[in-house]
Amino acid sequence: MLWRHPDLPMENAEDRMFSLKQDSSFSCDRFINSDFIQYVIHMKRTDWAKDEIESLKQEGRYIPIRTIGSPQGPYVRIESDTYLNMCSNNYLGFANHPDIRRAAIEAIEKYGVGAGAVRSIAGTIDLHRQLEEKVAEFKHMEGAVVYQGGLLANIAAVPVLVNKQDVVFSEELNHASIIDAVRLSSARKYVYKHMDMDDLERNLKEHRREGKKALIISDGVFSMDGDITPLKEITELGERYDAMVYVDDAHGEGVLGDHGRGIVDHFHLSDRVDVEMGTFSKALGSMGGFVSGSSSLMDLMKQRSRPFLFSSALNAGDTAAVMKAISILEHDDTPLKRLWSNAEKLKKELADFGFDTGKSKTPITPVMIGSEKKTLELSQLLYKEYKIFASPIVYPTVPRGTARIRLMPSAAHSPDDISIATEAFRKAGRSLGIIS
Ligand SMILES: Cc1ncc(COP(=O)(O)O)c(C=O)c1O
Repeated sequence: MLWRHPDLPMENAEDRMFSLKQDSSFSCDRFINSDFIQYVIHMKRTDWAKDEIESLKQEGRYIPIRTIGSPQGPYVRIESDTYLNMCSNNYLGFANHPDIRRAAIEAIEKYGVGAGAVRSIAGTIDLHRQLEEKVAEFKHMEGAVVYQGGLLANIAAVPVLVNKQDVVFSEELNHASIIDAVRLSSARKYVYKHMDMDDLERNLKEHRREGKKALIISDGVFSMDGDITPLKEITELGERYDAMVYVDDAHGEGVLGDHGRGIVDHFHLSDRVDVEMGTFSKALGSMGGFVSGSSSLMDLMKQRSRPFLFSSALNAGDTAAVMKAISILEHDDTPLKRLWSNAEKLKKELADFGFDTGKSKTPITPVMIGSEKKTLELSQLLYKEYKIFASPIVYPTVPRGTARIRLMPSAAHSPDDISIATEAFRKAGRSLGIIS
């Protein structure tokens, strides 16, 4: 009689037993010690994941993950086909820019591929320091610290700025990395309504005194909607209520401000915002993130922030690539202009066809659908019939009932590429009854 765990279906256990018996080296001892026992235990412990996947599928929230076999660009290779890429954050086309690639290759030839250690032990190279100086200069800030990603930059910075004696006022639609960073800080958190300065002020009035220090934290550009936070009003409230102001400029870098210097430059607030954080993974085309602010605060980040102290440094290739990307932007804003003109064309054509493109003020172009299932259907149809790669965005990335396809135009697209995308949306949207 074959022993089986009571939760393991008999058929699975018998199949497994049969295959073990086919194995000529099968023995009872081996069976007892075999991975079969582990298999039985494992089946039980993680079976809940299968159920969760099933319910994601039932709710239309299971996202297919496509595997790309080419560089990021206006078109990408997925399996054996080529698709028009409308969902990458490669705003300026820098992810495959020849000069930026060359800078990365040269740095790898000089420094190799890995930093080898955390920065405080043996991982800081001269390129990291040069990049920090370059970022600070580009952002008109006193200093900057480079991290391995934008998510990590938020996780690094917020717990240095505030702790359980302090209070945080956090925008309702802040990015997940800010939400996690605030949790990690143990500071008391109050969430203010999206873009609502009256609500922020009400929260400050009621709760500012509960913390020794206070921090107002917001995305600069909201990644799923493309609207821009009212940073000037936030800084005024920060000054009035003695609260530090922190802005996440992940989607403003290379997009807003003079030569893409970002949101703080866009609003001319460089002496009034305490921390400007950003990522190198979007418009700058590569990988990594940073925090910028006063020299003493940056010094403290290097002493206290955990991703600096406990995670190996950004590699040389990415560091050099980002430096090159900033140099290109400083000297030439034609990619920036191309990005904005493609974005205007995309929004106008979609609106002319009857799509709701939300309230974006930046190139981010959400095509608002609402229903999760319909959004997945549209994305599938665009992919299969029209060879358009445009991923669905559903809960929990956006609130339930606000599912959408977020289109990301790029400087690398030609105007014809934009027309191909909008025409495909028109046909697919009609056939699914999304537009008339
Ligand atoms: C607003 C915002 N902050 C932070 C991040 C994280 O940046 P990274 O991809 O470099 O980790 C993102 C990326 O999705 C973002 O949109």
